[in-house]
Amino acid sequence: MKNGSRALLECANVVKRFGSLAAVDGMSLTVAPGEIVGIGGPNGAGKTTFFDVVTGVTPATDGSIGFDGHDITGVGADRICQLGIARTFQLNAAFESLTVRENIDVAAYFGRARRAVPGLRLGRDVREHTDEALAFVGLADKDDVTVAQLPVLDRKLLMIAGAIATKPKLLFLDEPVGGLNTKEIDHIIGLVERLKAGGLTVVLIEHVMRFLLALSSRVIIMHHGKKIFEGLPNAVAEDPIVVETYLGEGTRKRLKTFFTEGGAQA
Ligand SMILES: Nc1ncnc2c1ncn2[C@@H]1O[C@H](COP(=O)(O)OP(=O)(O)OP(=O)(O)O)[C@@H](O)[C@H]1O
Ligand SMILES: [Mg+2]
Repeated sequence: MKNGSRALLECANVVKRFGSLAAVDGMSLTVAPGEIVGIGGPNGAGKTTFFDVVTGVTPATDGSIGFDGHDITGVGADRICQLGIARTFQLNAAFESLTVRENIDVAAYFGRARRAVPGLRLGRDVREHTDEALAFVGLADKDDVTVAQLPVLDRKLLMIAGAIATKPKLLFLDEPVGGLNTKEIDHIIGLVERLKAGGLTVVLIEHVMRFLLALSSRVIIMHHGKKIFEGLPNAVAEDPIVVETYLGEGTRKRLKTFFTEGGAQA
């Protein structure tokens, strides 16, 4: 690790096979505390599967994963969350018939500690974490709305609120602005910047390049389960292999404008 600082996350040669398909094929990734690392790449590149393996949703076929001094290779999702990794999902994941507050209560309750025998009452700490998370994402006024009635932006905010209610050290965001309009994307950019300012370390997947490049201190591009690029945001569109396999010439030109003129069209 640069400057001798200790890595928060260290993934070495992670492989995930589904039958003969290596969805993740030897991914190594080191994340330092306080970084925002962005992951891009074509559909089916293995980005979500990589998140699933690191967050314990599915076990790795090979490789090792270390987090905050723990070997979390093969550890289950609930324990990994309690150790301090939270995530959101590419598709909406929530209890549809529960209210906004009830959803976040569940995250705050189960995400923080082992609950071998769940109690009937939520402690004050759970209520405080829920209140904080709802206020942080701006959903406090909608706390009694049933989730099924929420518009798309609020659903994204709900997933982020659930994740931060677990008080993570590391947050994984899987396409946090997929399906959102420009103004909504800016809203989420502001929110992630506030999370970073609060000291949270973030790894995010996104196809919306404007979002990915604006927030990331380092960008990784995956293709066929492998890392094909790792570097600074302004170098992504200069990489011929990334342009050929993912961005295309049109996006490359738009991104050039993005960096030279601060354009918003990327
Ligand atoms: N449970 C599964 N069983 C079998 N194959 C799977 C499974 N999950 C994912 N795959 C396959 O693994 C590959 C990687 O999928 P993944 O969802 O990780 O890609 P991605 O980079 O997140 O793509 P997108 O940008 O479309 O979300 C794809 O070929 C996909 O079909
Ligand atoms: Mg995906």
